[in-house]
Amino acid sequence: MQTRSPFGIVLSGSGSALPDAILDNVALEQLVETSDEWIATRTGIRQRRLAGPQESLTQLASQAAERALAMAGLEPTEIDLIVLATSTPDDLFGSAGAIQGAIGANRAVAMDLTAACSGFAFGLVTVAQFLRSGVYRNALLIGADVLSRWVDWSDRGTCILFGDGAGAVVLQAVELQEASTASDGLLGFELRSDGSLNHVLNLAATALEQPLKSGATVGQGNFQPITMNGQEVYRFAVKRVPEAIEKALHRAERSIAQIDWLLLHQANQRIIDAVADRLGLPREKTISNLERCGNTSAASIPIALDEAVRQGRVQPGHTLALAGFGAGLSWGAVIVRWGR
Ligand code: COA
Repeated sequence: MQTRSPFGIVLSGSGSALPDAILDNVALEQLVETSDEWIATRTGIRQRRLAGPQESLTQLASQAAERALAMAGLEPTEIDLIVLATSTPDDLFGSAGAIQGAIGANRAVAMDLTAACSGFAFGLVTVAQFLRSGVYRNALLIGADVLSRWVDWSDRGTCILFGDGAGAVVLQAVELQEASTASDGLLGFELRSDGSLNHVLNLAATALEQPLKSGATVGQGNFQPITMNGQEVYRFAVKRVPEAIEKALHRAERSIAQIDWLLLHQANQRIIDAVADRLGLPREKTISNLERCGNTSAASIPIALDEAVRQGRVQPGHTLALAGFGAGLSWGAVIVRWGR
């Protein structure tokens, strides 16, 4: 086990929300030179959901959060901490505060966490530290992204990949007294960053020179669309993700055979299959919703988790290996037990 502390965590609820509008690969053929067959074969994606201009990340995230709270049987006012993992907030100052207001979690402190497609994994470990230390009892972790706002819709190398959505989980502290049968649901983790590969995947800020009358010149802020070296990201993911999972498993004192489900960030079906193969895990034990949702960045793990929980595939007591990877470059694996 990674740490011994008086408290552990329980993952007690999940929720998700997707925009209504569907863009399938056939519709994408109207936008760029591509084909349903090319996209499906290279990525496993057939369609993705897109938020309209009137739909906000805050709305999607709030819906997902309310569904997770309902499953956990908690009132919004019982939440102490909200962490929103996102790279696409409605507001550069952060959107966690707006979500806290929207769902009426008025006792909770709320903050954003940015780690791109690793955001949910990084957020899970971050939230767990507050619960394990005994500082907070009930927390909400949301992964949400609307990357459609930042995609270059004329770039066929990237626009085929991304979709929008939000997912959330409720994490609660449990006391680990000697007499108690409770145990920590966070079994082990490994989080990593490699900034020397930062240039491989970016949604970079740009500054347009704006001379002021005072004589000073400032940079007026804006963002470039997503740029990506797809092949490098692919190679990085297939190598680094299994390594991180193996390290997290070692810390969890578990073998791969003891994992019920492998749930990777939903980027590419070929990456999911390759990682499962490298770990020696049967592909039936992988969870994937890529075909319907595409890559929803920080939202992809909690959306797929919520779907699997509601379908009854993931059941209380099941052990999951979760792993995120993406811009930074960043990657991380977390071994968790679902439910009480
Ligand atoms: N439709 C049709 N052809 C396309 C295309 C598209 N949407 N996108 C690229 N191509 C073409 C390329 O122009 C290239 O043509 P060429 O051989 O004539 O030069 C050819 O297909 C192969 O391109 P390549 O980039 O080598 O394809 P790939 O097999 O690496 O697949 C990705 C591209 C993006 C699907 C793949 O690299 C990938 O998924 N990488 C991981 C990206 C990722 O997950 N990012 C998010 C991480 S969080």
